[in-house]
Amino acid sequence: MRTSGGAVNSRVHSNVERDLISLNNEAEESVDGNTMSQFQSGEDLFANIVGYEDIKKLFQLSLYSKERPVHILLVGPPASAKTLFMLECMKLERSYFTLGSHSTKSGMVEYLFEKRPRYLIIDEIEHMPLKDQTALLSLMETGIIAETKFQKARNTQLKTWVFATSNATERMLTPLLSRFLVLYFKPYKYGNFKEVTIHLLSHSEGIAEDIAAEVADVVWSKLKSRDIRDCVKIANLAKTKEDVKWVVETMRNYSRKPKEK
Ligand SMILES: Nc1ncnc2c1ncn2[C@@H]1O[C@H](COP(=O)(O)OP(=O)(O)O)[C@@H](O)[C@H]1O
Ligand SMILES: [Mg+2]
Repeated sequence: MRTSGGAVNSRVHSNVERDLISLNNEAEESVDGNTMSQFQSGEDLFANIVGYEDIKKLFQLSLYSKERPVHILLVGPPASAKTLFMLECMKLERSYFTLGSHSTKSGMVEYLFEKRPRYLIIDEIEHMPLKDQTALLSLMETGIIAETKFQKARNTQLKTWVFATSNATERMLTPLLSRFLVLYFKPYKYGNFKEVTIHLLSHSEGIAEDIAAEVADVVWSKLKSRDIRDCVKIANLAKTKEDVKWVVETMRNYSRKPKEK
């Protein structure tokens, strides 16, 4: 893995070296005043996320890192708010969102040349084909992107922050991983799970707090689920605590696919 990443990287550099002087160098550009004044604190930017105050602060520090972008990768179990962090980052001006499974090398590089995004946001980067991951190596290290199309070479330099998520890091290139500040989220404990559920259900879904608390309890203890999405589904089906119990009981009765005979 290391070798293929390195090989591509050095090829990119030799292309680039030829006319490094002609680079449209954006690296000196200062942090976008508008972007930061809009979000004076990580709290505003991540207002929809419950908890994770230290992670919010790290993002904030990264956004203020004027000299050199600090790229952040969130790794963790499902339903731990990784995608939510990416969605919130989309509020930043000149941000571009892409799904690892939908990216194509030419598509992404083409976009980088054309739009020169300041923030490249990649959800589930582990699904990005390895050849596409290699395109990111140079962008993240030097800001340089290069492409040869129809025997024409072009290159440029960007100042782009890469924010990404991953469920696991096994399929990721080692050199790519090392370019990120990697933050591993742990599964929610009961207390966090309940807090997030109550906050989310009462604020976003307009559900009474006692019903929200009941939903969190039964999803955790009866369904044995750790996925807040289950709480949202159940809360939207139930009006009373009895409804909550009934929906969960029914879900349990139908929770397994019957064995085929
Ligand atoms: N800390 C949190 N604050 C607010 N909502 C949360 C939090 N954790 C999970 N959720 C909710 O749980 C669901 C799953 O979150 P998501 O970001 O898609 O998880 P992941 O990408 O880690 O699988 C979403 O509906 C999200 O709103
Ligand atoms: Mg996700």
